[in-house]
Amino acid sequence: MKVLVTGGTGYIGAHVTRGLAESGHDPVILDDLRASKRERAEGFVLEAVALEDTEGLFDVFARHRPDAVIHLAGSISVGESVRNPELYWQNNLGGGASLLLACARYPVQAFLFSSTAAVYGDTTVSPIPETAPMQPTAPYGSSKLAFERLLHGSAKSLGMRSAALRYFNAAGANPQWMVGEEHEPEEHLIPRVIGSVLENRALQVYGNDYPTGDGTCERDYIHVTDLASAHVAVIEADELESGRSFNVGTGHGTSVTQVIDAIGKRLEREPIVEVSARRPGDPASLVADPTALKSNLGWRPEHSSIEEIVDSAVQWDLVRRERAA
Ligand SMILES: NC(=O)c1ccc[n+]([C@@H]2O[C@H](COP(=O)([O-])OP(=O)(O)OC[C@H]3O[C@@H](n4cnc5c(N)ncnc54)[C@H](O)[C@@H]3O)[C@@H](O)[C@H]2O)c1
Repeated sequence: MKVLVTGGTGYIGAHVTRGLAESGHDPVILDDLRASKRERAEGFVLEAVALEDTEGLFDVFARHRPDAVIHLAGSISVGESVRNPELYWQNNLGGGASLLLACARYPVQAFLFSSTAAVYGDTTVSPIPETAPMQPTAPYGSSKLAFERLLHGSAKSLGMRSAALRYFNAAGANPQWMVGEEHEPEEHLIPRVIGSVLENRALQVYGNDYPTGDGTCERDYIHVTDLASAHVAVIEADELESGRSFNVGTGHGTSVTQVIDAIGKRLEREPIVEVSARRPGDPASLVADPTALKSNLGWRPEHSSIEEIVDSAVQWDLVRRERAA
């Protein structure tokens, strides 16, 4: 299947692109490289076009005639979305709408969207099923939820199958592909802890008085290789009912302290930790109920123990530092 992967040079997109190719599909990357590097498309066709360039999208669709679209491109920071909400409406909703215009002109069979656990907002439900109330607390989550609705609402008239995957915390790197996290600025816990340990800097932990096992926040970490395999499974599932949104997580929470301990153990160094006040809007626990994805697709996370995630993230970080030196 020819699959257009928007955001295919980004962290998750680079894994999805390689996962598709390994499964015998033919991915074409669409990414304007605003948050990634051209090298990450090596070995693949790259169309460096922005989502908002609708005419440019028409041209890409006319030349490649994709069978399916996997839409990962977007703006990804919760904090930035609070400071600059317009960017999130423009990129995550407007950019997605532009892509749907291209699908209206050049029909595709399936459209798979990268959504997020942030659509649930500050929930007390744990683990979180897809039926939990959706009350996003920041424009990032609202823009993702708005596009999920636009996509599912328009899929039937566009004659395509739609699905959204709500990722929990994507983490790790595939050891063969070595295209791990390189966000700028990096806001995700695992690369931040690795950086602070390798550079002998103190790491801020925001609050240790949450109602969790050790008082620090719990999140559901999913290895990016497992995320990639979930995308391949959805794209291949012709019989899957259209308009479904699925959680992608493990169903298990790992606390900030457990992540820090695992990284200290892997690097054989003692992390320096400073506890500061809670950050507003950080829920105590965000853990997926992934039953729907498992039962509908037979998908299972195979690489998502915290040890495997941390080991692969450390390998990637060391490679990245060596390349930059
Ligand atoms: N990383 C996570 O833990 C996580 C969790 C939940 C959801 N997501 C979603 O997954 C997707 C990918 O996340 P990521 O961590 O790989 O981010 P990333 O920033 O590494 O990748 C996003 C890619 O999209 C491209 N892009 C952004 N806007 C574009 C536009 N208008 N036109 C063309 N290209 C554009 C960027 O250049 C980048 O390569 C995002 O939609 C994000 O919201 C990520």
